[in-house]
Amino acid sequence: MIQRAMLGAVASAALLAASLVPIVSGEAERLQRDAASRAGAVIEQGAMLYGLHCRTCHGSRGEGVGQLGPALGDGHFFTKRSQEVGWQSTLREYVVSTTSHGRLMGTRPIYAGNGTTAVMPPWHEDHGGMLRSDEIAAIADFVLNWQATATGKVELKALSLPEQNPQDPRTISRGEQVFEKHCLRCHGAANGAASGPAGPPLANIATLGNGRREGMTAQEYIRESILIPAAYRREGYADPGKGQDCGAVLTESELAAVIAFLSR
Ligand code: HEC
Ligand code: HEC
Repeated sequence: MIQRAMLGAVASAALLAASLVPIVSGEAERLQRDAASRAGAVIEQGAMLYGLHCRTCHGSRGEGVGQLGPALGDGHFFTKRSQEVGWQSTLREYVVSTTSHGRLMGTRPIYAGNGTTAVMPPWHEDHGGMLRSDEIAAIADFVLNWQATATGKVELKALSLPEQNPQDPRTISRGEQVFEKHCLRCHGAANGAASGPAGPPLANIATLGNGRREGMTAQEYIRESILIPAAYRREGYADPGKGQDCGAVLTESELAAVIAFLSR
């Protein structure tokens, strides 16, 4: 009796196993697809967090932003940087570790800083930042995802963004909204001659800005001033400081709109 029951159990286990085979291989495929889509979702989350916290200094495509932060999406970063700083582990670990701890002093003269305010704040919550480990890991995945294009393995076609016509009244009125939201508090009213509490008046910047920096049009000067306000110091105004973005939080299209508005 016992034997028969056991045999029965063995037989049904074998049957079960046999019937499972096709399901298992289908399952493996499904698991693989799931893993790929999870990895995609993590990179997407990383992209969103990068856009919020890193883009202002490292650029939306990791191209770097003036004296604010170095490129993270170029060939140099992927092929030479570890060696340059003597990093022994993987590049991914380098991104995770640097991002978590931030950096008091930059390693290159243009990011040197003053030694008291960190040139890059720490991001991990364990070090006083606002991000969790999994969020920093997602950002690292997003940054590492630039490797193929950075090292020339994949060539991207130039993105053709819809052109914003700077003369279009809709662009200008969008620019006005951007100005009121992001610039007014420091620069005062856009048509006012009086300056705001912190920054110079911008009423005639489209004329005054022309040639203020050698070889730059007023529009290029405005763009640079927004991204790196201290690139050209005006006497009598506070240094807006690296952390105090003049407007570097803007998207590319908001930037174009506010420049159109100031040039109207
Ligand atoms: C306020 C500007 C600023 C912000 C915001 C910022 N960084 Fe940085 N980051 C820097 C500077 C400056 C350096 C130091 C460059 C050096 O040492 O030469 C740096 C260095 C790095 C490095 C090492 C680069 C290298 O070439 O060694 C990584 C990786 C990095 N940042 C990632 C991030 C990530 C991810 C975020 C967003 C969570 C972020 N940073 C936000 C300014 C910034
Ligand atoms: C936190 C305050 C602050 C905010 C916000 C701010 N700026 Fe500025 N901006 C300054 C300061 C201060 C200067 C002068 C910097 C200097 O001369 O070193 C400046 C300089 C400029 C200049 C150069 C002016 C000149 O006469 O050379 C332009 C253009 C400019 N900002 C545009 C903008 C725009 C557009 C915005 C909004 C997207 C903006 N800023 C937001 C503080 C700010």
